[in-house]
Amino acid sequence: MKLFVDTGDIEEVRQAAEWGVLDGVTTNPTLIAKSGKGFKETVVAMCKLLPEGTVSAEVVATDYDTMLKEALEIASWHENIVVKVPLIPPGIRLVSTLTERDIRTNVTLVFTVSQALLAAKAGATYISNFVGRVDDISDEGMKAVAETVAMVENYGFESEVLVASVRHPVHVVQAVSAGAHISTMPFKVLQMLFNHPLTDSGLKRFLDDWNSAGLKILS
Ligand code: E4P
Repeated sequence: MKLFVDTGDIEEVRQAAEWGVLDGVTTNPTLIAKSGKGFKETVVAMCKLLPEGTVSAEVVATDYDTMLKEALEIASWHENIVVKVPLIPPGIRLVSTLTERDIRTNVTLVFTVSQALLAAKAGATYISNFVGRVDDISDEGMKAVAETVAMVENYGFESEVLVASVRHPVHVVQAVSAGAHISTMPFKVLQMLFNHPLTDSGLKRFLDDWNSAGLKILS
């Protein structure tokens, strides 16, 4: 499964990229607005930090003609950019157009399999299925992920199912079980994937024993 970080912060992308396990970045208008930096400078800097990955950058218009202009502008900034498009009728029309032009898309704000079907049929590269926001209203967000993965596989769609709105490591584990292709998460959740108290206590014991014996690797 690919791991993406969901952020508008270039420094977080730099740190996560250093680990060598980061496959991409997702941004959204809220995250970019919070970053306090310009949209283009932020996503281009992220693309440069992750030369093998993709950076999803979202259009903000809601009418087809303006969405198309924004999408073409965003896509022209860097070859690693994937244009993020909300799941609304002009958005799905836009995804169909961009697919014809070989421009990759990430369809966002997807909550149900019926919505995901529209995104898949339009040729979305990624289908961003939000889980946390559904859990927040006392439903089970991961259910639609499993159903969407099955739908994509059963019908041979090329879209990858991207689990978004991830709140904690258990969501990542559930995304793995559901067979999702990608999970995107805040940097703090990515850091939490490292954590286990037995790793910390085990490392402490190894190092204490090693140091007590006065051993060295490097002279
Ligand atoms: C996905 O691409 C979105 O940017 C993101 O995962 C939304 O997460 P939130 O529900 O925590 O805002």
